[in-house]
Amino acid sequence: MDSFNLGTLLLCFFLRWIDGADADSHWTYKDMAQWSKSFPDCGGVWQSPIDVETSALHHDPSLMPVKVVGYHKPGHDPFTLSNNGHTVKMSLPAWQLGGLPWKFTAVQLHFHCGRDWDGSGGLAGGSEHTVDGRRSAAELHVVHYNSDLYPNVSVAQSQRDGLAVLGVLIETGDDNNSAYENIFKYLEFIKYAGQQMPIPSFNVRSLLPTDLGRYFRYNGSLTTPPCYQSVLWTVFAEKVTVSRTQVRT
Ligand SMILES: *[C@@H]1O[C@H](CO)[C@@H](O)[C@H](O)[C@H]1NC(C)=O
Ligand SMILES: *[C@@H]1O[C@H](CO)[C@@H](O)[C@H](O)[C@H]1NC(C)=O
Ligand SMILES: *[C@@H]1O[C@H](CO)[C@@H](O)[C@H](O)[C@H]1NC(C)=O
Repeated sequence: MDSFNLGTLLLCFFLRWIDGADADSHWTYKDMAQWSKSFPDCGGVWQSPIDVETSALHHDPSLMPVKVVGYHKPGHDPFTLSNNGHTVKMSLPAWQLGGLPWKFTAVQLHFHCGRDWDGSGGLAGGSEHTVDGRRSAAELHVVHYNSDLYPNVSVAQSQRDGLAVLGVLIETGDDNNSAYENIFKYLEFIKYAGQQMPIPSFNVRSLLPTDLGRYFRYNGSLTTPPCYQSVLWTVFAEKVTVSRTQVRT
């Protein structure tokens, strides 16, 4: 990881650029301190993201490795990549997530890259979750809803046990990451809020770290408004790396 604060990540540039665009829902990172006025849950006690303090972790031997079913068999239907004015989002087929107290079903994945307003008109780049205070360059979230208890994500998202999100911390390095290129190469075509396009399906398992058995688990929330306190979080300990050239303008 280096220099993401200097804005060399295309993804970060991109997300900075679209933040505050004329989005469907009315919030920006700049107004973060005011979120709870319009979205009461944003003042909740389970608010995510968090800093993972590794010295304060409790090992829980009853936790099983996360099991992703279907991720590596993308099928032939294209995925839909969209810009919702806050983030880059990709729809997912109804794949299953196992190893959790309930069966969860995949909905979408999206990226985060910077949320702290740096005071000079730009977002300080980086992941949302930090480990011992250390921020990664970006973060991938794969969102699932509790399909044992709820009919769809709209109903589930506001329920205490409604969602399970996988968090992947992304660093930058020397080697190109071909899995992430399946998404990055289309970003330039969805620069404007509201734009979307079909992209060829690919093995989504390859976006995740190799080791799905080591992770940080906690009860938290959506990280952006409406901040529903409804997420069982799994943030993987192993990080993934994308190259600097791959994400540079
Ligand atoms: C979700 O399920 C509820 C209850 O069955 C239904 O009223 C609603 O239309 C569904 N929403 C979507 C987006 O399918
Ligand atoms: C999350 O909350 C549920 C109760 O809603 C509890 O059973 C579970 O142990 C909690 N998990 C963690 C990791 O705190
Ligand atoms: C890595 O990806 C970038 C952007 O797609 C490309 O320009 C570069 O040639 C690639 N480098 C290698 C070593 O494949």
